Amino acid sequence: MENYPQFLLFFILASVVGIVSIAVALSWVLHYREGLGWDGGAAEFNWHPLLMVIGFIFLQGIAIVVYRLPWTWRCSKQMMKLIHAGLHILAFILAVISVVAVFVFHNAKNIPNMYSLHSWVGLAAVVLYPSQIVLGIAVYLIPVTPVRVRAALMPLHIYSGLFIFISVIAAALMGITEKLIFSLKSPAYKDSPPEAVLVNVLGLLIAAFGALVVWIATRSAWKRPREETAQTLSNNTTSPEEIKVGTDMTTTS
Ligand code: HEM
Repeated sequence: MENYPQFLLFFILASVVGIVSIAVALSWVLHYREGLGWDGGAAEFNWHPLLMVIGFIFLQGIAIVVYRLPWTWRCSKQMMKLIHAGLHILAFILAVISVVAVFVFHNAKNIPNMYSLHSWVGLAAVVLYPSQIVLGIAVYLIPVTPVRVRAALMPLHIYSGLFIFISVIAAALMGITEKLIFSLKSPAYKDSPPEAVLVNVLGLLIAAFGALVVWIATRSAWKRPREETAQTLSNNTTSPEEIKVGTDMTTTS
């Protein structure tokens, strides 16, 4: 891999920032909010930010860059596709549970649904995401689509995947801001109480995680090599770091 140390630095940084975001979201809901529960109350709402950060942000981000990890290049492309699809499906399941938690909370408290820009952008991502997953599985996992069609659709798959991921980051930042404005009364958000500072930091971490994932995903030098090269790898002792990358993963199928 070209620039392997740089890749490693970006990947470790993204993982650390992602895991710290999850830890900060958890400590927010446990320490400053009402904890976690499934009773139609505030504790049920709290699953919403937590599961969104774990699933729709962290797992989705890892799923996006999973092909690029050189230590996975010994695995077959089919296996990596299954892992890629599996992580996305898990992220989607967590996102759905998270949205159900807000709807139940809103209905129990007679709060209207779907009035904010956050909820519109968020729901659009939640609806587009399974379409992307189903299309991805139909075109790339089930071996019926001709290779030329797979290759032709790959730029669209990459573009829409990154677009959904960036939309989710944007929705999370809006959701965080909204929640702080709604719930911090005395002292208010504008007075910068410790909770506000912590959650602002969470927003910065989420934005940084998004930026790192998009950077890693858009470096062509860090792409997984062609399948034949990956096969050679599993048959001899050449390390992935020694492989010169730069081939287009659209042709690997
Ligand atoms: C509500 C999606 C992250 C705070 C909603 C709703 C959706 C949604 C679809 C509408 C539910 C309803 O109307 O009953 C998303 C997505 C996220 C995300 C896709 C991706 C990361 C967050 C985060 C927070 C948050 C991190 C921080 C606490 C809220 C709040 C509401 C809400 C306060 C209720 C008010 C409203 O409808 O805007 N979210 N959310 N969201 N979300 Fe999120």
